[in-house]
Amino acid sequence: MIKKYTFGTPFPTESVVVPVEAGEGMQPYGRISLPEEGSGFTFSYVMDADDIVYGLGEANRGINKRGFIYTSFCSDDPNHLEETVSLYGAHNFIIVSGKAAFGIYIDYPAALTFDIGYTRADELVISCEHADLDFYFIEGENAYQITRQFRKLIGRSYIPPKFAFGFGQSRWGYKTAKDFFDVADGYRSNHIPIDMIYMDIDYMEDYKDFTISEEFPDFPAFVQEMKQKDIRLIPIIDAGVKIEENYDVYEEGVAHNYFCKREDGSDFVGAVWPGETHFPDFFQPEVRAWFGAKYQWLTEQGIEGFWNDMNEPAIFYTPEGIKKIKEQVREFLPKPETKDGVWEMQGRFMNLANSAEDYASFFHNVQGEMVRHDRIHNLYGFQMTRAAGEALQKISPKKRCLLFSRSSYIGMHRYGGIWTGDNKSWWSHLLLNLKMLPSLNMCGFLYVGADLGGFGANTTRELLLRWLALGVFTPLMRNHAAIGTREQECYRFEHVEDFRHIIGVRYRLLPYLYSEYMKAALNDDMYFKPLAFEYPEDAMAANVEDQLMLGGELMIAPVYTQNAKGRYVYLPEEMMYVRFLPDGTLSREIMPKGHHYISVPLNVVPLFIRYGKCIPVAGMAECVAEVDSAHMELVGYEKSSYVLYEDDGYTRNYDLEKHSRTLG
Ligand code: GLC
Repeated sequence: MIKKYTFGTPFPTESVVVPVEAGEGMQPYGRISLPEEGSGFTFSYVMDADDIVYGLGEANRGINKRGFIYTSFCSDDPNHLEETVSLYGAHNFIIVSGKAAFGIYIDYPAALTFDIGYTRADELVISCEHADLDFYFIEGENAYQITRQFRKLIGRSYIPPKFAFGFGQSRWGYKTAKDFFDVADGYRSNHIPIDMIYMDIDYMEDYKDFTISEEFPDFPAFVQEMKQKDIRLIPIIDAGVKIEENYDVYEEGVAHNYFCKREDGSDFVGAVWPGETHFPDFFQPEVRAWFGAKYQWLTEQGIEGFWNDMNEPAIFYTPEGIKKIKEQVREFLPKPETKDGVWEMQGRFMNLANSAEDYASFFHNVQGEMVRHDRIHNLYGFQMTRAAGEALQKISPKKRCLLFSRSSYIGMHRYGGIWTGDNKSWWSHLLLNLKMLPSLNMCGFLYVGADLGGFGANTTRELLLRWLALGVFTPLMRNHAAIGTREQECYRFEHVEDFRHIIGVRYRLLPYLYSEYMKAALNDDMYFKPLAFEYPEDAMAANVEDQLMLGGELMIAPVYTQNAKGRYVYLPEEMMYVRFLPDGTLSREIMPKGHHYISVPLNVVPLFIRYGKCIPVAGMAECVAEVDSAHMELVGYEKSSYVLYEDDGYTRNYDLEKHSRTLG
């Protein structure tokens, strides 16, 4: 049962697609206070000692969010430290599960804080500055059931084309056609499967959206040549439009007032990769249509997928910020330097980027009314991806297109997937990747993945292999790294056969993984779940933070520590432990409910098949088009069967009934 409580004048975020009845009174579940002075909003609830709190999508820390504080404010912060409170997405959905079970979705696009037992260990406090919001309250039997209700409320998740379930290689710094061909050859000549190479900002001319650098004199031919190798190129599109005379996107945007404005009506300026840029005002339908239509210039050249970036929006600095800091430097220069003085200056430079002051200094035109950016900040990436999604639907009404974004808000899950931004080549970020997955699914984001191997910092062979063994299961499976870090294309490491094998497992599982993805999307269900969602009565399962349920048949338990030869796992019921061995064979072992130590060599992908179930496994393939689903082996319990969903993988004609068949 879902009830909606409206406070003040909420901004129409369009995250919810189903009308909900207005509620009355919320007792006995917590207390809402609207302070008389000021216009803040606070919801508080006293948690029971054993209550678990799930949710928040792309957020830091555990599957159980209890014990820390989180702020929904889409942030471009590449240092995802343990203390980080905001990442790139704002997903305001939580579930309290324990003595009572209820979900809360706060539809509010400005900064919102969830203090989940941080200030007081037993208290959940949700607060924000302005009491203009829709508060959805969802009751249900358990956390899973509440999630299912919520997912119905926010509409069907984005469905990518099937090739997007292949493996992809990316690196910030690929610049020339040769760079891309080298990567393609590195994979193909080593027989490591691959389907996509991502084009980071250097494919553009001076980082200008919808331009192509002179390194690609015949871009359509280049795209085709890659396609002949069964590789799709996926270019990046950034939010900021470079300010440059004679650049059509800039000139059209200025002429039509399509950019965000300062208070005085002039076009707001923020510096990003191209230098000074203007930000398209994606809140205006005409701007979405205009910017979205630009993607066609690339689809006409053979492009079938995009990643939208820097759309929090990230702002390195503004002219106003620079002016202010220059004045401060002038004041600083003649003074005798002191430790505090130097630190103050240092801090000021550090705070130039993504500053609250800058976010408060520009405006969106929402149906004729100027709305200050920071009041609706968390919707910017959503609106940019919506612009692309709506346009791609028009440009290609029959064929699906790959689309994912860095910044997001609930509602954006209908238009594209997300990747979880600039992580680091740290073991802790491999585990963080795993923990985020079910929370993202709770909020509708199904096509998700992290930069495998880690984006910042230098990876190691071992970390990359272990991370890939998790990535085998994430819908978006992409190895991506930052410029200046160690090169981490799989073929650069010794014993490439290990990489060939691990990524090969992805392709052997692809018919199953795709089928489970499609079932999750079409049934508004989850693809990854915490164990407790499947085994709500099992107190032990409720504590498991490093294993996940996948689809209806699997449990996964990746290794995430350096030098580990294996790991401990908890089985909430009897399961079949299956290992994909390097020689292409599979080992199977029935394991009883309980705790076990499993040995997992670096070149082995482990998984568990649930009691009484089975999964289809295909033979080896080097790209999605080669996967042979007509000849699959059923692996799992005897006398079990599996309902496989399989469609053509590229049209938008999804149909669970029509495209399902029972195997076994
Ligand atoms: C941002 C993106 C990263 C990309 C880089 C350069 O940091 O998150 O993925 O490589 O910009 O475009």
